Amino acid sequence: MEGCPTQTERAMSYPVDILANGDWDTLKQSSEAYLSRLRNRDKAATEIFRLINGEKLAVTPSTVTFLHVHREDNEHRVLGLLNPQDNQAVVAVYLGERWWVLDDALRTSNDARRELVQSVAEQIVLYLLNRIIYRRREFLPGNILFLHHPANQFAKIFWKNGEAVGFYTVKQKGSLCTDCTSQCYQLPVLDTLFVRQSYQRQGIGLKILHEFCSIFSGDEAVGISRPISGAMYKVCSKYLYSRPHEQERVWEVEAPGDWSQRVNVWLQIQMGAIPSVITDTTAGGNPSLPSPEEE
Ligand SMILES: CC(C)(COP(=O)(O)OP(=O)(O)OC[C@H]1O[C@@H](n2cnc3c(N)ncnc32)[C@H](O)[C@@H]1OP(=O)(O)O)[C@@H](O)C(=O)NCCC(=O)NCCS
Repeated sequence: MEGCPTQTERAMSYPVDILANGDWDTLKQSSEAYLSRLRNRDKAATEIFRLINGEKLAVTPSTVTFLHVHREDNEHRVLGLLNPQDNQAVVAVYLGERWWVLDDALRTSNDARRELVQSVAEQIVLYLLNRIIYRRREFLPGNILFLHHPANQFAKIFWKNGEAVGFYTVKQKGSLCTDCTSQCYQLPVLDTLFVRQSYQRQGIGLKILHEFCSIFSGDEAVGISRPISGAMYKVCSKYLYSRPHEQERVWEVEAPGDWSQRVNVWLQIQMGAIPSVITDTTAGGNPSLPSPEEE
């Protein structure tokens, strides 16, 4: 049909689709080559990037910065475009030889996109959700700050209507707590999870908790990293209320999660010892946090 994109054309629409087989070396070379061209560019030929709201942004060496996707590896990085008029917010990322507005970098045209994070492009989406959307745009007082995810962690991204709407990560039983210690996790731990504000209260948090408990149904105990947020405690409450057989199995844990480092989640709920939920969605991110290039 004339005018209708073919399946292949649709699948090529967004960076996570285009860069399905991308690797860090190629990304690095393309970013460095672009930055070098930018530095040598004549002022009269300044590139202008247009934001969704029509605002125009000059792309210059001072509005471009490297974003480090994994803290442990300095080579895993992408170029981000900062908006000086908006507290240096990251508004676009340079992927596949062009700038993508953040919303498009978080989209897919593949309706059957798998949830497990494996490709470099999926790792970048996970980074953007965690460090840019959650940490800088949607962070509320009382929320729990997540560090950069390590490259090899079990992670899933939830896709809905072609949009990345949330994620969760798991510390596997037996995996090292940090690179600087020989201590290993004693049980599987749901370490980080986030659902974008516009998709909250639609059952995704419950789905994540259920999936986590089911994947590790063979383990006598499963953990959620301490501290658990007020909203997540509410999710646990709803989940455990309807599944009494899980009530003894779910613990709030501190690494590595031996018995002295666990408290039973259902017991905490029964005792009312849970944080309150902050619902002030007007807070709009956390400007007191350092800008991306300071991280
Ligand atoms: C916690 C979080 C993942 C919950 O995700 P979610 O998809 O909105 O959760 P659900 O829609 O599955 O909620 C299930 C139930 O939990 C309860 N609940 C969830 N969020 C709540 C809130 N903010 N206030 C009160 N109850 C809440 C409700 O009973 C809800 O059912 P209902 O909507 O039918 O009333 C999400 O709020 C989030 O990403 N918060 C910021 C990051 C965070 O706190 N992560 C957890 C770290 S431990």
